[in-house]
Amino acid sequence: MAVRAPEGTRDLLPDEQRFWTTFKNTAATIFGRYGYQPIETPLFEQTELFVRGIGEATDVVSKEMFTAISGENLKTLVEGGTIKAKSRLSLRPEGTAGVVRAVVQHDLVPQGAAPAKLMYAGPMFRAERPQKGRQRQFNQVGIECLGAEEPTVDAEGIIMLMRFFEAMGIPVASTRLLVNSMGCSECRPAYRDAVKAYMDEHAAELCDECNRRAEVNPLRAFDCKNPACSEVMDGAPKISDYLCDNCRAHYETVKQLVADAGIAFIEEPRLVRGLDYYTRTVFEVQVVEGMGSQNAIGGGGRYDKLVEEVGGRPTPGFGFALGYERCLLALQAAGMELPGKPPCDVFVASVDDSVRDMSFRIVQAARDMGLTAEIDHQHRSLKSQFKLADKLNAVLVAVVGPDELEEGVVTVRNMQTHHERKVELKTLKSVMERFLGERQVG
Ligand code: HAM
Repeated sequence: MAVRAPEGTRDLLPDEQRFWTTFKNTAATIFGRYGYQPIETPLFEQTELFVRGIGEATDVVSKEMFTAISGENLKTLVEGGTIKAKSRLSLRPEGTAGVVRAVVQHDLVPQGAAPAKLMYAGPMFRAERPQKGRQRQFNQVGIECLGAEEPTVDAEGIIMLMRFFEAMGIPVASTRLLVNSMGCSECRPAYRDAVKAYMDEHAAELCDECNRRAEVNPLRAFDCKNPACSEVMDGAPKISDYLCDNCRAHYETVKQLVADAGIAFIEEPRLVRGLDYYTRTVFEVQVVEGMGSQNAIGGGGRYDKLVEEVGGRPTPGFGFALGYERCLLALQAAGMELPGKPPCDVFVASVDDSVRDMSFRIVQAARDMGLTAEIDHQHRSLKSQFKLADKLNAVLVAVVGPDELEEGVVTVRNMQTHHERKVELKTLKSVMERFLGERQVG
């Protein structure tokens, strides 16, 4: 049997690959207006970074990481040996930890500097059970702003994300933006204790996993997919009743700025998100219909302790990531079709093999001047070369024939108007240049 792509992965075939490029470019343009600059970090990092950054008790770290082991280290492990901590590597399940590591390593936010605003796009890896909208390798576009704790950073980030969705054509009416504040190291411990006490009271109604969560990280129970747990957690204490004055003021300003920008949102006190690094603002954008359970197209929040967690000096942070594949599903559900291949400007057809060298020179000249140009590589008949030109949506076909060559001309046919004219070889270049000029204006 032929080998297929691993479960939970997808090939981005040319139409989709082009759309992914458009998607990334649109993000770079819009996020660029807000000052975000591109960064690229490795696809794998030391496992310890994710354990410290994302949290050992999260599903992402405890169950879903792909470990990357070099052949040499694998042999050592198989033989019962141990490998150094720095050789324990994992494929990145998300982008924040790696960006924060790079910020610390390269000191991108020196004391007193303006915040570092960074954006990234690329594949992430999570060993989750694959289903529609949930893959083991998926693409994210994300941003991280390090070095400012002001609520304006959170608000402009949320506004920027919603503007991006709008620009890509995701109908705002079909999405909902959920927001919450997770509090800080001042107020969260009391809340956590209250949730734990509540869970202990309801231990008999909660699943084994949630009872374990009650010990390690009670807030994770809000994410439990078990309907019985969900019902119990509905009655759990609300973070809004526990926020300290500073967190409350921060949250109020974020909400007010987002509302002022004309963006509707829903306050969801149960929104805790699946990664442990969040403090204060958290948010998620969901598609209301047609996406099944994997309906979150983007999310993020503030993480004011993460930099310290990975060994840097105290530096507040905020960011989000959006899932490309889920956005594509949302767009397709809204009726979008992937744009096809752009048309070929010039197809150079040969009447017979005797002129192929000249056709090759002409097609090359066309490409060198910036036109998309194609030629037959399979010795097709003139008729099937025209068929191929049609298939490529060629705008012009230049027909090179032995008799015409003798006269020093080629026949140029406009495939839309079917108008044909003879063009002298020595003026062909300027005819094509003019065409290129018109095409660029058009
Ligand atoms: P996240 O919510 O885990 O956040 O992922 C962000 C987005 O990635 C999700 O909303 C979803 O669209 C997409 N996504 C996640 N897992 C999968 C999957 N298995 N298959 C397809 N798409 C998926 C983060 O990753 C954080 N790093 C965001 C962030 C940045 N927070 C602060 N800064």
